[in-house]
Amino acid sequence: MNAISTPALPFYEPVADECDLFQTAHANGLPLLLKGPTGCGKTRFVEHMAARLGLPLFTVACHDDLSAADLIGRYLLKGGETVWVDGPLTRAVRQGGICYLDEVVEARKDVTVVLHPLTDDRRRLIIDRTGEELVAPKDFMVVASFNPGYQNILKKLKPSTRQRFVSIGFDFPAPEVETAVVVAESGLDAARAGALVRLAGHIRALSGMDLEEGVSTRLLIYAATLVARGMKVERAIEAAIVEPLSDEPDVQQALRDLAASVYG
Ligand SMILES: Nc1ncnc2c1ncn2[C@@H]1O[C@H](COP(=O)(O)OP(=O)(O)O)[C@@H](O)[C@H]1O
Ligand SMILES: [Mg+2]
Repeated sequence: MNAISTPALPFYEPVADECDLFQTAHANGLPLLLKGPTGCGKTRFVEHMAARLGLPLFTVACHDDLSAADLIGRYLLKGGETVWVDGPLTRAVRQGGICYLDEVVEARKDVTVVLHPLTDDRRRLIIDRTGEELVAPKDFMVVASFNPGYQNILKKLKPSTRQRFVSIGFDFPAPEVETAVVVAESGLDAARAGALVRLAGHIRALSGMDLEEGVSTRLLIYAATLVARGMKVERAIEAAIVEPLSDEPDVQQALRDLAASVYG
């Protein structure tokens, strides 16, 4: 009997030619930057492509304390001995695979110093602490994401970093695609998923009105999941859309009014 189990390919519904672009970038050693609002499918896309290309995926959720050492590695004390432990970036370079730096702008400045020689034609990782200089194998790829919507003046990608990446602008998928995603992820029927997607369209058109961002595909899936499990639509929208999007009573009311107009 064939006992080999292939891990299931994470479901990803393509929006345009992003799968081709990813594959071509990978085949040619080009780093890739995914720009787009939160919850629009960037992480899922990377998981899908890594599985499709049969590559290990090393994901790093960047935060404002993340330093170069967190990526590269450090000496740790183990049983009275100091041993070098590779960080996720070094592991990806040694083994080959994708290193995915999620929300890369959040990371500390010294991270860019590490990324620059890796993301140009040198493709080198310099490990000062061990004196090593690793040349990235063909299979290695850096993928980074960031959300240009957070207008944080202190945190921007420097042009010198941006211009090292092939970039794809993500946005929420077209209604038919988004409906298919919500159906596939929540198990809700297409008619009711479509209504949530229509509501999302109205909410996104409102953006600017004290909403930092329109409703994400992720939240629509949450709402759809609650409804598919038997919860009332109104309650699901309240818990998965209205409350997560705003704390302002008048904004919340405006969202409820929009929902009422879609469902009315
Ligand atoms: N094109 C898509 N195909 C499949 N699932 C999607 C797609 N876009 C969004 N999703 C769903 O939305 C959720 C949030 O997407 P995610 O990739 O985590 O967003 P991001 O990384 O952009 O914040 C995913 O868990 C997945 O269920
Ligand atoms: Mg993500």
